[in-house]
Amino acid sequence: MNMKIPVIIWGATGFTGGELLRIIARHPDMEVVGAVSRSKAGTPVGSVHPHLRFAYQDLNFISPEEGGEIDAGLVFLALPHKAAAETAKKRLSAGQKVVDLSADFRLRSHEQYRRWYETEHPCPELLKEAVYGLPELHRSEIAKADLVSGVGCNATSAIFALLPLANAGLIENARIECRVGSSEGGAEAKEGSSHSLRSRSLRVVSPFIHRHMAEVIQELSLPEDKISMTVTAVELVRGIQCLAHVTLNKTLREADIWKLYRAQWSKEPFVSVSPAKPAHFRIPDPKFVLGSNRILTGFALAEDGRRAIAASAIDNLIKGAAGSAVQSANIMYGKEETAGLEMMPIYPA
Ligand SMILES: NC(=O)c1ccc[n+]([C@@H]2O[C@H](COP(=O)([O-])OP(=O)(O)OC[C@H]3O[C@@H](n4cnc5c(N)ncnc54)[C@H](OP(=O)(O)O)[C@@H]3O)[C@@H](O)[C@H]2O)c1
Repeated sequence: MNMKIPVIIWGATGFTGGELLRIIARHPDMEVVGAVSRSKAGTPVGSVHPHLRFAYQDLNFISPEEGGEIDAGLVFLALPHKAAAETAKKRLSAGQKVVDLSADFRLRSHEQYRRWYETEHPCPELLKEAVYGLPELHRSEIAKADLVSGVGCNATSAIFALLPLANAGLIENARIECRVGSSEGGAEAKEGSSHSLRSRSLRVVSPFIHRHMAEVIQELSLPEDKISMTVTAVELVRGIQCLAHVTLNKTLREADIWKLYRAQWSKEPFVSVSPAKPAHFRIPDPKFVLGSNRILTGFALAEDGRRAIAASAIDNLIKGAAGSAVQSANIMYGKEETAGLEMMPIYPA
């Protein structure tokens, strides 16, 4: 008999917590045994996530105190940073494996964490054992880890756009531009998420430097002074389109770049390279991946052979958060990496 891995989700009322609940509801090897919330303990999961009512008819949110008593092997933390690190420390000492979706364990040094998050790390001693939770980069380390970080959604989109060029040492500089949906900001109502204020705006959230740049620099080993990142909130609920405007350090032909992208991504179960034609499908559009763990990558090369647009599209709540987290957990437990994650994108969305 297949014994399912008992899973507990902290921050289960939030957007990424909801996506974890949705994915695990149909996961062949995992089962949610606890959904923790400070504000909704005692109320049904379906009262916050109405689309999941039928999947969790008997599951109520539980308090953090109750969550601490449940003996689940695997914990997902969908909490804000800092709160996540403190909870991770307790869960690890209770013998649980932790996948933390927050930013707390993404950077390798506490100096970098202090610099980018402008606060002291609550448990810097754990940074050395945490693995950056992007399976496409760290599969073998994730397989041995008890603590895996989540990924920054914008960072994920930039990494997928740029990895083939970065690995080939071809990037002279890159201006990364992410166009993002409102769910990036989480479920809590704030000025940035107010529908009246945000809808139909093109709001540049960060013109030049964004926290997620730290992950891109770390994971692609690129020099900081050669990278910038602009994040613009656009009229989307979900989805990120990343366009990285790259100056190449040598002249290339299109065929060279096709070769690099195909070699990098052909064996990855969730990554596709956009076709060259029709022209309007060449640059990845998040509309083609929404609701799925898929990543679309693509590129265009200018006639001079020195300027390229390296691009990607993801669903920020799935490949940029809950999907990568479940993919990592599958690897931690030696399960099929794609388990629970083979849903098709919805289209049109
Ligand atoms: N949204 C994205 O696209 C995305 C992508 C990648 C990574 N992430 C990361 O994933 C984490 C969760 O993001 P989200 O978008 O799901 O956020 P969210 O919708 O705001 O949900 C976070 C949940 O955490 C709980 N919470 C809030 N403050 C807390 C605190 N101080 N201590 C304990 N619990 C607290 C809240 O639930 P209760 O009040 O019910 O306890 C809340 O529902 C964040 O660290 C975020 O950076 C988000």
